[in-house]
Amino acid sequence: MKLDILLGLQWGDEGKGKIVDVLAQDYNIICRFQGGPNAGHSLEFNNIKHVLHTIPSGVFRPETINIIGNGVVIDPVIFQKEIIALEKMGVEIKKNLFISKRAHLILPSHRILDAASEASKGKTKIGSTLKGIGPTYMDKTGRNGIRVGDILNPNFKEIYNNLTNKHKDILKQYNYEYNLDEYESSWFEGIELLKSFQIIESEHVINKYLDEGKKMLAEGAQGTLLDIDFGSYPFVTSSNTICAGACTGLGVAPTRIGKVFGVFKAYCTRVGSGPFPTELENEVGEQLRQQGHEFGATTGRPRRCGWMDLPALKYSIMINGVTNLIVTKADVLSNFKTIKICTHYLHNGKSIDYLPYEINEPLEPVYKEMKGWEKDITTCKTYNELPKEFIDYLKYIEDEVKVPITIISVGPDRKQTIVK
Ligand code: GDP
Ligand code: IMO
Ligand code: MG
Repeated sequence: MKLDILLGLQWGDEGKGKIVDVLAQDYNIICRFQGGPNAGHSLEFNNIKHVLHTIPSGVFRPETINIIGNGVVIDPVIFQKEIIALEKMGVEIKKNLFISKRAHLILPSHRILDAASEASKGKTKIGSTLKGIGPTYMDKTGRNGIRVGDILNPNFKEIYNNLTNKHKDILKQYNYEYNLDEYESSWFEGIELLKSFQIIESEHVINKYLDEGKKMLAEGAQGTLLDIDFGSYPFVTSSNTICAGACTGLGVAPTRIGKVFGVFKAYCTRVGSGPFPTELENEVGEQLRQQGHEFGATTGRPRRCGWMDLPALKYSIMINGVTNLIVTKADVLSNFKTIKICTHYLHNGKSIDYLPYEINEPLEPVYKEMKGWEKDITTCKTYNELPKEFIDYLKYIEDEVKVPITIISVGPDRKQTIVK
């Protein structure tokens, strides 16, 4: 069996959690392959809204196995909070959640390093989620990291102290006050909880499941434009958020990849700093923010909003080899008379129709205007019920990017999903 992958094509928050929850009914296994608690994946059903950070979005389907892969970074404190919230909702989590021995741990001092680094950057800060993501991946690639498998080592406390002491030395360079003690005790509580879960050699388990013909979906976090290699560097996250990240983050060969679902919003949003060519710093942007409830699921920060950016979408489709597109939040555009789509940019007065290396330089978006549908679409159940103007909008995008849009999300609830 092949591994299908679902990932974000913009700057994160495209609605991946909602869609994974919907698709999970067709899969036996859902796996996270990168990122960590910087992610906030919301899903809604039976009037309950839930936000997941580390745990895969298949967790609400009782038959589905969920795997936290080797490419993920785990903060035991946040993990414990998520588990408690899920258990309160009656989810039997221990049976169906597996964690890779190779996943790296976010230490309390990684969080402090993240905060100290951001504070020292002042205006040029990344606008990170302050969850310790960057410093943890730095220790991973610097070959200093601590992995989930290490918690089973009798000398774990010593391993922990060695790395924390290294961090304390680095922190001397910053003029940053901190207190580790409080977070440390809940961190070790979280470690004890982690030990009670099924800690596995996930690459073997995942490949065995695929050999057995089990259906598996990899759930991306963040989005392609936040990828460490192909995003708007340095304003990115510290992992490979793209399709290839699922191969390294799970131990699955590229020849085993099946469908690649690319999720995009009908407009664009971004949290944190960095370039955003179609950003609307005006009342239209504010209208998108209010109507789309564009406030971060992890940090609560207001999301920056702007029109759909086709060159950026084409870039993401190319990098990921997207086979199926999924559009979300088009319902948010229902009150707009006209809808704009950026078709190309002016860069130094020259027209370009692709996302260039110079994304940090001014790129002036050039727009095509389309007639809005001005109708509520949140109760539409089938493609044929959708207003003509909306179908024209979808067809225009499909013609431009040459990939079919196969799922249309018209609201946050599981049921508000049209499969074409
Ligand atoms: P993720 O990080 O990609 O999983 O996305 P988030 O959960 O951070 O942000 C998406 C937000 O939009 C959440 O509040 C979802 O409940 C909501 N959402 C998802 N799909 C739709 C949709 O089609 N329409 C509307 N109005 N909201 C949606
Ligand atoms: P989901 O999975 C949106 C952004 C941060 C910041 C940059 C680096 O919910 O789509 P980090 O903490 O990773 O070092 O921050 O990346 N960012 C996200 N933006 N959605 C996310 O995840 C994000 N995860 C990180 O705001 O700009
Ligand atoms: Mg999110």
